[in-house]
Amino acid sequence: MGKGFLDKVYSARDAEGTRRLYDAWAETYEAEISENGYATPGRCAAALAAHMTELSAPVLDFGCGTGLSGLALKLAGLTTIDGVDLSADMLKRAEAKGIYRALRQVEAGAPLGHAPGTYAAIAAIGVIGAGAAPVSVFDLLMEGLAPGGLVVLSFNDHALEDPANEGKLDDWTGSGRAILRAREYGPHLPGIGLNSNVYVLEKT
Ligand SMILES: C[S@@+](CC[C@H](N)C(=O)[O-])C[C@H]1O[C@@H](n2cnc3c(N)ncnc32)[C@H](O)[C@@H]1O
Repeated sequence: MGKGFLDKVYSARDAEGTRRLYDAWAETYEAEISENGYATPGRCAAALAAHMTELSAPVLDFGCGTGLSGLALKLAGLTTIDGVDLSADMLKRAEAKGIYRALRQVEAGAPLGHAPGTYAAIAAIGVIGAGAAPVSVFDLLMEGLAPGGLVVLSFNDHALEDPANEGKLDDWTGSGRAILRAREYGPHLPGIGLNSNVYVLEKT
């Protein structure tokens, strides 16, 4: 297995290329990232759970992949989790975990299609940055929340190298449209020496 996909995932590609990459990676994704100690889902889930007032409130796992992020949310005590993703093959594996209330395939950049407030929180764990979704999806996530709603997300070291990514969060907090509730730097994929920042923001 080695660095099967990890050695190519962090290059820039368009949405169709991203979908194809994750369809192709679906079968070996969990083995490859688990063997590298994938730590960000557990860190994000703990950070979100610490800021939720009601753990049974619905949470959307955006870019849920094979469901490792949903599993981490569940293990942190969250009980009502829906998932969406670009890749049908990743979603099939998420479905097999039996932890999601509902799963749906989405088009890149399309509005999420739920009324604001449907979800108390939205997670984008390992989803924004080179190799996955552009930071413009952060606007979609925030538009899908009502005031008081939370978003938990991560930027790995590659994503942190691009100032546009944290800049997007700064735009929201600087304009008073969101409050930064938590930011913590720590391990992402220790097996390849990669760290990440985990953030919790609240929509105002
Ligand atoms: C690195 S995986 C992370 C999956 C999961 N959250 C986890 O922690 O294991 C990134 C996921 O984001 C999905 N993705 C990438 N771009 C997306 C987009 N624009 N909209 C929705 N999902 C997207 C990919 O299909 C892939 O499943």
